[in-house]
Amino acid sequence: VQKHGEDSIQRELFGTRLGFILAAVGSAVGLGNMWRFPYRVAEGGGAAFVTLYIILTLCLGIPLMLCEFSVGRRTRLSPIGAMRREGGGAWPLVGFLGVLTGLLILSYYSVIAGWVVRYGIEGILHGFAADPGAYFEQVTTGVAPIVYHIAFMVLTITIVSVGVEKGIEKASLILMPVLFTIVIGLAVWAATLVGSGEGYSFYLAPSFEELLNPTTLAEAGGQAFFSLSLGMGAMLTFASYLSRHENLNREATTIAFSDFGVAFTAGLVVFPVIAALGLQSQVSASTVGALFIALPGAFVEMGTMGRVVGIAFFFALTVGAVTSAVSLLEVVTASMIDEFKITRRPAAIGAGTLILLVGLLPATSLDALGVIDSITEWFLAVGALCMTIFVGWRMKDPVAEMVDGASGFFAAVVPTMMLFVKFVMPPIIAFVVFWSGRNAFNT
Ligand code: PHE
Repeated sequence: VQKHGEDSIQRELFGTRLGFILAAVGSAVGLGNMWRFPYRVAEGGGAAFVTLYIILTLCLGIPLMLCEFSVGRRTRLSPIGAMRREGGGAWPLVGFLGVLTGLLILSYYSVIAGWVVRYGIEGILHGFAADPGAYFEQVTTGVAPIVYHIAFMVLTITIVSVGVEKGIEKASLILMPVLFTIVIGLAVWAATLVGSGEGYSFYLAPSFEELLNPTTLAEAGGQAFFSLSLGMGAMLTFASYLSRHENLNREATTIAFSDFGVAFTAGLVVFPVIAALGLQSQVSASTVGALFIALPGAFVEMGTMGRVVGIAFFFALTVGAVTSAVSLLEVVTASMIDEFKITRRPAAIGAGTLILLVGLLPATSLDALGVIDSITEWFLAVGALCMTIFVGWRMKDPVAEMVDGASGFFAAVVPTMMLFVKFVMPPIIAFVVFWSGRNAFNT
């Protein structure tokens, strides 16, 4: 295994259990929970989507994360090299797909992160806008989104190329609990609003027919992969910096539950607020803005206190977005370092600049943003399918790797889980691939 000087920074970083968990949770928790989850729920069927999302996070998300962890820890390589080493043949292509996916996701992720930064700054300078729908429109059109996108990408590139992930982790150690506390507080506050009932029933009361809708299932699966950073090798890469004896199954379970908790609570804020403040028509005019329309509405409603809470919220969410963006750029960068034998700095700057340029498209067009979002969701599903088949059928003795360091329940379930990985997950994920492919390419 070739190791470059700069890599020792990361080894140090993920050398401790807490460092690893923080990095993985930092990757998972981000705009996927706060922005994408409510947006997908608003667009795709409400409570049925939520129900299927919970089921798929547990049944597909946790085992798949364990699969990625075990490949990464065994090979100690980034996705392309890992697949070459353990799989040979055409398997490295799965790693390439992951790199491409990471590149494309970050290109629009950064645009949305730019909106978040803008909302925070606006909150500080002028307070939150009284007409959230019109304001969202203003934030997402013209030159401003391009400027904020570039600024956010420059920040991400700087962090990854200098390798100050440690500082970022410290920031997220403090700010992720802050974010979560604010969101829980907002959810409690939202429960006191008059007229929120309709929001709760949309979010929490599934209709039986909707549960059987294949499109809803596929979308929920795609959201689960996105939110857990699965299907493109991010979790694999983190685990490649891990020491041998960590309880991988316990970590996967912890990460999945934290990630789910944040997303679910975000929904407990967004939907009651939309109903209580009568923002339905503004949100349905652009579902992609569900979070950005609902929350400032709530902050305005809360008066002076709302302004402070709002600023803190957008600041903490920015940090959440940064830690996820760093993980996306890290996958591309680590692969370039390994494949082209170059050092970290040029790799990060080269990859980041390319992403910055690709991002000009989603920065100028919400339609383009939606298209890249659904195509990459499909890529994640394809990546997840390949990874499952790889671990189930190609990797040598995956169970040994998975139970190394695990104990009790987390070790005991692994053999059964492997049967599931081999026989049950591939057909389910293939179904997700099929249906989300239809969605991605029909529109
Ligand atoms: N999981 C991140 C989020 O929810 C996004 C992400 C996807 C990060 C894929 C890395 C890989 O915000």
